[in-house]
Amino acid sequence: LHIPSLFFCTSSLLPEQLLWVSGAQGQVNTYRIPLLTFTPKGSLLAFAEARKTSSSDMGAKFIAMRRSTDKGATWSPTTFIVDDGTKPDGLNLGSAVVDEEVGSVILIYSICFYLNHCSPPSIMMVESRDDGLSWSPPRNLSVMLGVKNFAPGPGLGLQKRYNPAKGRLVVCGHGTLEGDGVFCILSDDHGDTWYNGAALKSIPYNQKKKPQDFNPDECQPIELQNGTIAINVRNQNRYHCLCRIVVHSYDGGLTLPLEGLVFDEALVDPVVAAGALQKEGVIYFTNPCSEDKRVNLTLKWSLTDGTSWEKKAMQIWAGPSGYSCITSLDSGSVEDRKYIFVIYEKGHKDYNETVSFAKIHLYSGR
Ligand SMILES: *[C@@H]1O[C@H](CO)[C@@H](O)[C@H](O)[C@H]1NC(C)=O
Ligand SMILES: *[C@@H]1O[C@H](CO)[C@@H](O)[C@H](O)[C@H]1NC(C)=O
Ligand SMILES: *[C@@H]1O[C@H](CO)[C@@H](O)[C@H](O)[C@H]1NC(C)=O
Ligand SMILES: *[C@@H]1O[C@H](CO)[C@@H](O)[C@H](O)[C@H]1NC(C)=O
Repeated sequence: LHIPSLFFCTSSLLPEQLLWVSGAQGQVNTYRIPLLTFTPKGSLLAFAEARKTSSSDMGAKFIAMRRSTDKGATWSPTTFIVDDGTKPDGLNLGSAVVDEEVGSVILIYSICFYLNHCSPPSIMMVESRDDGLSWSPPRNLSVMLGVKNFAPGPGLGLQKRYNPAKGRLVVCGHGTLEGDGVFCILSDDHGDTWYNGAALKSIPYNQKKKPQDFNPDECQPIELQNGTIAINVRNQNRYHCLCRIVVHSYDGGLTLPLEGLVFDEALVDPVVAAGALQKEGVIYFTNPCSEDKRVNLTLKWSLTDGTSWEKKAMQIWAGPSGYSCITSLDSGSVEDRKYIFVIYEKGHKDYNETVSFAKIHLYSGR
């Protein structure tokens, strides 16, 4: 196992780029819920909810996309790859998952998640087989998975690179508002068919929650180098700590045993969707590092699979900051080993003002 010796310094954060600015474009009120993924061809794809009429989680939306073929230096103009029309309870992003074996990028999202003037909720999928240039029409995965309330991510799903279940696609998310919990859906045939995998249910399950109830919510799975999946989870009702829940699956996403659940007190959290990534044995984590406010977007890293975190951390933005997502290019080239990429909600007064892209040089201090 090769663990690079990391040495971050302030110059390691290259100039940021604002990929989307809320209110700047006629047909979109607010951009939120950014996702960032690599592609099998070495491009980067950024996605966000483009909320048409307000900053609310409900309402009609587009899925906005921008594409970079030069490692984040320049980006294509925005294209809207999905349009839900005028629905009062439209689409919600979502997880991007890359299948490196067939070269596809899959995006899974929900519609009618809040059951606001609509029913039933549905889990939808679109797919690109040409590096993000074109996208399939939406497919309704609820036909296979059953009609249930499931909000993937938001963030990235994964394809298992190691056994058990090498090649499997794993997408995790959370369930209904009352019957909440973390749930994973799985595909062993490159996204053609999907089935229900692991569940970590909230307590009390399917009942209205109170403060401090156990209510695992939005989540980001990563695969460790020994094949274990570690899911970093939003602790919605602040059970046990003001920090993240991490739960492990040792069987490729089929189960999430309680024995594999930890409260990571080092990852202080204001209740938010966070970013996580495993690259060359190092775990990276981003969130607004604060007990009660969405401010102080911070990158932390672990050389011990998340069992401890390096004391040194890197502040990306001191001000308002919300959801974040991390990715990297893994061709093995010297260039690709140097960087990770972060996308996050960033603002001066409110974190929903812009979506920003940051390229981070891991070894700039050496
Ligand atoms: C998706 O499929 C489910 C199950 O068949 C169905 O109840 C639901 O209406 C479908 N959703 C859409 C948007 O077609
Ligand atoms: C893999 O690593 C994780 C984190 O260190 C550990 O909890 C788990 O037991 C390991 N699994 C195996 C099969 O060694
Ligand atoms: C920001 O995050 C850093 C790193 O975790 C922490 O030391 C610092 O106290 C945080 N600042 C605020 C204002 O929360
Ligand atoms: C950001 O959210 C607040 C409410 O939290 C809302 O009042 C404001 O209009 C939003 N800003 C933008 C630019 O959408």
